Amino acid sequence: MNPQGPIGIFDSGLGGLVMTKAFRAALPEYDFLYLGDTLHVPYGPRSAEAILHFTTQAVEHLFEQGCPIVIIACNTASANALRRLQQEYLPDHYPDRRVLGVIVPTIESALQTGHTRIGLIGTGFTIQSQTYNQELHKFNPAIKLMGKATPLLVPLAENDALQYAKPILQDYLAPLLADGIDCLILGCTHYPLFRSTLEEILPAGVDIISQTDVVPPKLKDYLLRHPGMEARISRGGTLRAQLTDVTPTYSASGAQLLGEEVVFEKVVLED
Ligand code: DGL
Repeated sequence: MNPQGPIGIFDSGLGGLVMTKAFRAALPEYDFLYLGDTLHVPYGPRSAEAILHFTTQAVEHLFEQGCPIVIIACNTASANALRRLQQEYLPDHYPDRRVLGVIVPTIESALQTGHTRIGLIGTGFTIQSQTYNQELHKFNPAIKLMGKATPLLVPLAENDALQYAKPILQDYLAPLLADGIDCLILGCTHYPLFRSTLEEILPAGVDIISQTDVVPPKLKDYLLRHPGMEARISRGGTLRAQLTDVTPTYSASGAQLLGEEVVFEKVVLED
């Protein structure tokens, strides 16, 4: 029998701690191991090659720490690297482990709630990659998705500057609203932090689809459907958090995003 291990959560930096908080609230019985690649954040403006390289190193690290399953909480990394990791890396290196992303469960939720004119905001890479479009059209080619890169939002969130977001968001959202979107996917780990500002801007009838709401129940459902994998996850309700670069600022922002104190361990990823 395989030894048990925590659920691995990977993000390019600290934003995935927002998702980790949501995962822990939905699945409090399991152990979690968070890895944020603060040494290389932001991934948004990087090349596909660099994102794939960093993401592969991170997933490998989490597997070496004993995680039977890893969730790539970062949309940018999911958009670029998930399919390749699942189809090329896992079968050769870790055929009995699993890597899941956040994009397909988010699209499933948007479709399940009947939306047909989907707005998406995310990093430059996530939008340019067209991954959301490609995955959506596998479900239903008739549904329209309108994407808008919103690169100023991550720096605002990471610098405790949410109060400056409203005019920037109004400007970013204008073309999506002109296109008549009926929902808005928050396609980046940090964007749930902008929810209250978005609620002030979006007209009634435009639903906000936040991954903190929709992805944890999908993981719960996945584990119910995969009892063999579920049995391999350790149950202690603990969280360990690791970063590839640790500073007092990262530790303070990390604790704020997570909503609880945690000691961030510094780790060096294999090259
Ligand atoms: N975590 C990333 C995401 O969800 C955004 C931050 C970055 O650019 O690295 O897309």
